Amino acid sequence: MFETKILKVDVNAVMFKKGEDMPTITDEETLANIKIAAKELKDTNNPIGFPTETVYGLGGSALQDDSVKNIYKAKNRPADNPLIVHVSSIEQLKRKLLPQDYEIPPIYHQLIENLWPGPLTILLPVGEDSPISTLVTANQDTFAVRLPSHPIARALIALSDTPVAAPSANASTRPSPTLASHVYHDLQGKIPYILDGGACDVGLESTVVDGLSNPPLMLRPGGYSLEDIRKNGGDQWSNIVHVKKVAGKNEAVRTPGMKYRHYSPTAKVVLFLNCGDGIEAMGKYIKSNNLEPTTKIALLKSKSFVSAKELNNLITIERDLGTKGTEISHNLFAALREVDEMGVDVIFVEGVDETEEGLAIMNRLSKAALITIDGSV
Ligand code: TXA
Ligand code: MG
Repeated sequence: MFETKILKVDVNAVMFKKGEDMPTITDEETLANIKIAAKELKDTNNPIGFPTETVYGLGGSALQDDSVKNIYKAKNRPADNPLIVHVSSIEQLKRKLLPQDYEIPPIYHQLIENLWPGPLTILLPVGEDSPISTLVTANQDTFAVRLPSHPIARALIALSDTPVAAPSANASTRPSPTLASHVYHDLQGKIPYILDGGACDVGLESTVVDGLSNPPLMLRPGGYSLEDIRKNGGDQWSNIVHVKKVAGKNEAVRTPGMKYRHYSPTAKVVLFLNCGDGIEAMGKYIKSNNLEPTTKIALLKSKSFVSAKELNNLITIERDLGTKGTEISHNLFAALREVDEMGVDVIFVEGVDETEEGLAIMNRLSKAALITIDGSV
């Protein structure tokens, strides 16, 4: 057990000048707090919470089995799901993780040039004498790596000079955290420190691509869209294939009849697709499920749903996720957590088109939802 401490850091006080791999830090408290966290990473096997541009991460040394074990333990995450390794520079990636004279496969060169630092994760082969813990890779022959653009994340990794294995810093099955308070809510008592750098910009996790397969694959849509990858990767990425995991096939079903939960609040999430302004579909759902007058429903709406509060008194809370893909991504997890904590029983969410950022948004929403209602079928 820990008494979890929240360490404030100012994201605007940390800068990486072009071509430099070490940060310039202009605020004393920020520097002191990043140093505390960096020391913890270096000297202990305790995982710590830290901000990235996507979501908050739960980080520990990727080189130490015990650190990695403690990450899985704090999150209560199944150990067969491999973790992403975070580095502060390409120089650090080469020096700490790759064999001498190893050349990063050419298919990645343009992607890295254009999209790192940023929410892009690539797969690389695990070399013969790789220092990476086999618990990070779940014994696979590849490892996932990214260079985050968040100055606090980069500074933490640079100052500790430790490649950091980091899943999202939520308790397993819960929505990913985009504020330090989300991490505290889920992991309080289980970790010593959380670096609090405010809200994460992107709001959804990084895009995971596999350039070692032919054709190249997108394993998880995220902060960069499929269109971004095609546009910035060069010719070799023009035929990238989005691998959609078949729900229930690769994922363990814990209780018969219940879907594996992921990104899930406590309340039941109902996802509406192709339902126009939503009035008829929501009304029908409430009626056909005979919801009691005491049932509390929250509505998270975006582009097309109209305000439903006046129309049905079961809908007590309403939040606008925004209309642009970047806004919806930024707001989604925080809104799910917020209305959940207000104690609603059901959360209605308006789905979006699967173009640009919409693909990643719908990927998370379809996993969070217990029920999906498609107005087009
Ligand atoms: O934005 C992010 O990526 C966040 C922040 C904290 O950086 N991290 C994150 O990590 O989302 P995590 O552990 O929740 O997601 C890891 C993803 C999973 O979908 C996993 O299956 C995939 O990366 N992955 C990791 N290593 C892999 C490998 N060797 N082969 C295939 N997929 C891998
Ligand atoms: Mg996660």
